[in-house]
Amino acid sequence: MYIFPNSQVLIQKLTESLKSLTVKQDKDDQTISVVLSGGNTPRIWFDHLAVNSEEIDWSRVHLFWGDERCVPPEHYDSNYGMTKKHLLDKIDIPDQNVHRIRGEDEPMHEAVRYGQEILRFNRITNQEWPVFDWVLLGLGSDGHIASLFPNTATMQVVNRISTIAEHPLSGQRRITITLPVINHARRISFLVSGKSKAAIVDKIHGIEAASVNLPAAMVHPEHGTVEWFLDAAAASLLLKDK
Ligand code: 6PG
Repeated sequence: MYIFPNSQVLIQKLTESLKSLTVKQDKDDQTISVVLSGGNTPRIWFDHLAVNSEEIDWSRVHLFWGDERCVPPEHYDSNYGMTKKHLLDKIDIPDQNVHRIRGEDEPMHEAVRYGQEILRFNRITNQEWPVFDWVLLGLGSDGHIASLFPNTATMQVVNRISTIAEHPLSGQRRITITLPVINHARRISFLVSGKSKAAIVDKIHGIEAASVNLPAAMVHPEHGTVEWFLDAAAASLLLKDK
């Protein structure tokens, strides 16, 4: 767990972390698959990354998304659209490295297609789960990650790579990767900032976390690592407990 004084320092560290993964290395042409998240913390990170990514060899980075809202890419709610505006339009990344979820297409059909695309561009386990190199997760104040919301059937899906979901309050349709996909990643990083997240962060890290039926508390990597990038506001209740 990393606790930074504010979100600005948090996103600087995140940029450094991506740099160290992807720094130009002539002899190493391996690709790196990174799953991005929607939300406010990623948005401010993308702004930072857009102007601080000189050392990143984007040709080695393949970008995916953890979830997408079922809207076209130009729509304000589109996670891809947000990333395009804040990051992709400002960096030199080949089009074929950008694996967006097509929010404008028929959702179940697109969930299947996206699952196949994920399999094509990642290492696959014997049980046929993709192994992403790095999955970045935002955290909802209700404990959701990607579009896996608490007390929904979607968070229990264990036989698909990608599936459909519905926002419990707005009813907005989404497409999301599933929990086993997240848990098979090599590295999983939660990006959480702001006081509004303090209570849920505390709950997930509390002594009863194992019994809490929240998607974020169900992140237990099969073989990889999980880390938390928190700012002091999001960690404020954790620090108080100590
Ligand atoms: C989405 C996200 C979602 C998000 C959290 C946190 O598309 O809505 O992927 O899981 O990351 O809701 O969002 P904030 O950073 O805006 O609080």
